[in-house]
Amino acid sequence: MPAIVIVGTQWGDEGKGKVIHNIAQWVRALVRYGGGGNAGHSLELDGQRVVVRLLPSGITTPNVLNMVGPYVVCDPEVLIKELQIANTAGSRVLLDRDAPVVLPLHKQVDAAREMARGNKALGTTKNGIGPCYEDHKARREFRLGDLATETSIRQALERGNLYVDRAREVSAGGLTPMSFAEHINWCLQFGELMEYLGDSRAVVEELLEDGANIAAEGAQGFGLDEDQGTRPYNTASNSTPAGFSKSFGIYRFSSVIGIAKAYVTRVGEGIMPTLMDNEWSRRMQELGQERGSVTGRVRRVGAMDLPYLKFACRRGGVTQLVITKLDLLTGHKIPVCDGYSYKNTGMHVPKFKTLTSEVLESIQPNIIEMDGWTESISHCRRYEELPRQAQAYLRLIESSTGVPIIGVGVGADRDAIIWRDSYPSLSQNP
Ligand code: GDP
Ligand code: IMO
Ligand code: MG
Repeated sequence: MPAIVIVGTQWGDEGKGKVIHNIAQWVRALVRYGGGGNAGHSLELDGQRVVVRLLPSGITTPNVLNMVGPYVVCDPEVLIKELQIANTAGSRVLLDRDAPVVLPLHKQVDAAREMARGNKALGTTKNGIGPCYEDHKARREFRLGDLATETSIRQALERGNLYVDRAREVSAGGLTPMSFAEHINWCLQFGELMEYLGDSRAVVEELLEDGANIAAEGAQGFGLDEDQGTRPYNTASNSTPAGFSKSFGIYRFSSVIGIAKAYVTRVGEGIMPTLMDNEWSRRMQELGQERGSVTGRVRRVGAMDLPYLKFACRRGGVTQLVITKLDLLTGHKIPVCDGYSYKNTGMHVPKFKTLTSEVLESIQPNIIEMDGWTESISHCRRYEELPRQAQAYLRLIESSTGVPIIGVGVGADRDAIIWRDSYPSLSQNP
């Protein structure tokens, strides 16, 4: 059975954590394949909320194996905290020994660069993500396996002049770099991670040969993807299935499940064509608690952007969609962007096959209002129980993107989700 890949289709925070938390009950293993501590995936069960940044969203699900792949940039301090959660819950963990470590110097470089950019800052999470991936590209990354002994730590800090180059960059940016000796002491704190290290690529291969269901968890979303996203306001890894292929060498998936919020949000800088600043957006902001799970920054809110969602589904190879936070649309007309026009020429943007930041800066979204509903939908567990206006909204998303909706989020709790009958059940996990 090939893996199911789960990706964000907007600008992150679509509710991937909640959906994967649900799917975790039906799979033998999950593997996080991209990003790092910039991610924050919220899991909620019976009112208890956990936000995970590195381990997969099956961390609180007993017996499931949660793996961190070799393309995930790891902050060991975060790993230690999340391991405690996994151990308490009785889930199992395997960390790829080749995963790059985000060093304090990487965070300092990230902060110094953002400072230097002044009012042109990218709005990164300052978690050292970009600089750490650069060292991976430069083939001098410090790996989790290098944390084993003082000798291997020292060698890794000296590999390709890593420490010296990065410390120089921090100084040039006006900050005081954490010293070499302090880096060694910092690294020595994480010996307990060693017992969790292994070869995630080999384990994934074995599980797939064995016919197991496994889910690959993406971080961020299509609009933040290193290559396809809205550069330069994007992140430094692939949030599309390319991230999974890149690190695991696997190009066949049983499905690619795209997660989309019923409206859109974005945290950090960069274009979001359907951005709104009105009573509705402020209401969504408040009811949806739209603040970054990692940085606490306010997420900007906008109308559902159908042309961008269609583009993300096509380029991301999305075969099925899950729409989250539909419950939050209750009680209001629903603004939806059903097309773009180019520089007021009336020319429709589907003519543009690549939606870069430059293209998106040059268009006007066409916003329509759909009828809403007033009754609460949080209790609904079958598609047919949803009000007809909600079904009409979901049908519009399906017809605009050409992708079937298999699940609908109606609350933050793990079980507040409707899985459609058309969805082949994963519960027959071998
Ligand atoms: P992720 O990064 O994609 O995992 O998303 P985040 O966890 O950063 O943000 C999504 C937020 O929406 C979290 O606070 C979730 O608890 C919440 N959430 C997810 N799905 C739903 C839903 O269907 N309804 C409601 N009301 N909240 C949801
Ligand atoms: P999850 O997985 C939302 C954004 C940052 C910034 C840009 C680059 O929870 O959906 P970086 O620190 O990665 O160099 O910052 O990317 N960003 C996210 N926004 N959700 C995320 O992850 C994000 N990860 C990065 O806000 O705009
Ligand atoms: Mg998030």
